[in-house]
Amino acid sequence: MKNIKAIIFDAYGTLFDVNSAAEKCKDKIGDKWEGFANYWRTTQLEYTWLRSLMNRHKDFWQVTEESLDKSMKAFDINNSMKNELLNLYKVLSPFKEVPEVLKNLKEKNYKLGILSNGTPVLLNELIESNNLKNIFDDVFSIEEVGIYKPSSKVYDMPIKKYNIQKNEVAFLSANTWDVSGGGNYGYNSIWVNRNNNIFDNLDYKPSSEINNLKQLLDIV
Ligand code: LAC
Repeated sequence: MKNIKAIIFDAYGTLFDVNSAAEKCKDKIGDKWEGFANYWRTTQLEYTWLRSLMNRHKDFWQVTEESLDKSMKAFDINNSMKNELLNLYKVLSPFKEVPEVLKNLKEKNYKLGILSNGTPVLLNELIESNNLKNIFDDVFSIEEVGIYKPSSKVYDMPIKKYNIQKNEVAFLSANTWDVSGGGNYGYNSIWVNRNNNIFDNLDYKPSSEINNLKQLLDIV
């Protein structure tokens, strides 16, 4: 991987653990917390894709709440938990290696950015609550283009901002479909495969596969 000028990270699931909200409530939710967290995440993503295809955009916070409503019904979770889960979603924990890796990269000569479905307000709150201020050169939110990943309009944003070539971007995501989206667009997409999952058949195989973000330091 040569000539990389910008390292761009997906946020939810890659830097921040989307299951951590439900996990923090596992005493109240019980053993089903993990199934519930996965269902919520899957529904949330389905809603982003469906809304983009239907041309009926709502921002990521609305989509997150509406997918939570369905998931709580599906898992028979009392509605009194809703606000607690939503508040925890605003302050999701990072994966444990993330702060150190980002601080290390900051000392190198790359543009560092986040490229995410999240709204600017949500993303800035996540960055602040996890003490990651002053790390990123830019936080690119899909709200700027009004359509969700994997639209090429989303992946275009850093290219336009930095005036660089697509293959000068190293894009990191734990979401296989996002790796394919960025890769088909022209990025060097790197798959953060924390859970030994199987990759998608969507015309792209990742430039690299790593188990956690620490291994990125060996590549760039
Ligand atoms: C994001 C979702 C895809 O942060 O995780 O864009």
